[in-house]
Amino acid sequence: MIILGIESSCDETGVALVSTESGLLAHALHSQIAMHQAYGGVVPELASRDHIRRVLPLTREVLHHADLTLKDIDAVAYTAGPGLAGALLVGASVARSLAWSLNIPTIPIHHLEGHLLSPMLAEAVPDFPYVALLVSGGHTQLMHVKAIGQYALLGETLDDAAGEAFDKSAKLMGLPYPGGPALAALADKGDPTAYDLPRPMMHSGDLDFSFSGLKTAVLTTLRKLEQQGPLTEQQRQDLAASVQAAIVEVLGYKAIKAVKASGSNRLVVAGGVGANRQLRDYLTRQMQKRNGEVFFPPLALCTDNGAMIAHAAAERVKAGLVEKMRRPDNAAVHP
Ligand code: KG4
Ligand code: ZN
Repeated sequence: MIILGIESSCDETGVALVSTESGLLAHALHSQIAMHQAYGGVVPELASRDHIRRVLPLTREVLHHADLTLKDIDAVAYTAGPGLAGALLVGASVARSLAWSLNIPTIPIHHLEGHLLSPMLAEAVPDFPYVALLVSGGHTQLMHVKAIGQYALLGETLDDAAGEAFDKSAKLMGLPYPGGPALAALADKGDPTAYDLPRPMMHSGDLDFSFSGLKTAVLTTLRKLEQQGPLTEQQRQDLAASVQAAIVEVLGYKAIKAVKASGSNRLVVAGGVGANRQLRDYLTRQMQKRNGEVFFPPLALCTDNGAMIAHAAAERVKAGLVEKMRRPDNAAVHP
């Protein structure tokens, strides 16, 4: 069975083709980062309009790459939520219209399930069960993944997501949107011990997170430094490295705590912040110490993409979770 997957929940239009037998056939992505950069964040109206412009050319592109035509597609999967309502509606409407015209079913997919299963698109695929650290711009969660469709929430952020902590700290430091990768790059040459920033809820005893206080601490540190004059490049690098260390340490500590509590020795890291090299190195070291295994999606599939949506749909089909493969009236949008 060949599934076309469409992702349009935020600022990336992603389209992909996945075969339930042979896996990922093709994927194409258009990032709106350059368009939103001038505004310092995602402008929902512009995002929706750009998804409209991009989704059909990207569909053509993946069909061309896979040497297929629309007639070869057996189902259309799309991100049903969570995300920006207008942006989601573009993907849902295109998916349902295509499915309607081809008389094939649609498969609505939860965006976070897409991220959660995305490490299965890498060469080394984790066995079930595993603990997943889901770290994106909108979510920070620890999940126990028992099987496809069987997910138990172990802990989550009580306020800002980890990606937001990166993005907001970066913005305070005058770095361009999206701040995560920019802050990580600046941190490369900095000293992570230079500034003493809080590790919120590190020893709270549960598996929840809180990142809003960190942003305030960054602001206070910046104000103090600015009283002595404009920050030097070294100070900026040191502050970036200190912010990154604080976020990575809390995420890493709680992820390992969740692994210990779960009884399985497998950890999966997914979502945009999963692209962070310090986080990857920290978790790889910690899991090695425990003789455990850690899995990451391919770097290009850490942030939003269509491959993870088509793949999640394929896994659901294979697991028998898409029972009634009817015409497109089974679809729903739940932003
Ligand atoms: O999963 P994603 O593409 O979109 C959401 O579903 O939110 O994640 C985007 C988030 C942004 O906050 C971005 O700054 C962060 O992932 N991010 C990073 C890195 N690459 C992306 N954060 C830290 N280090 C990175 N290398
Ligand atoms: Zn995402």
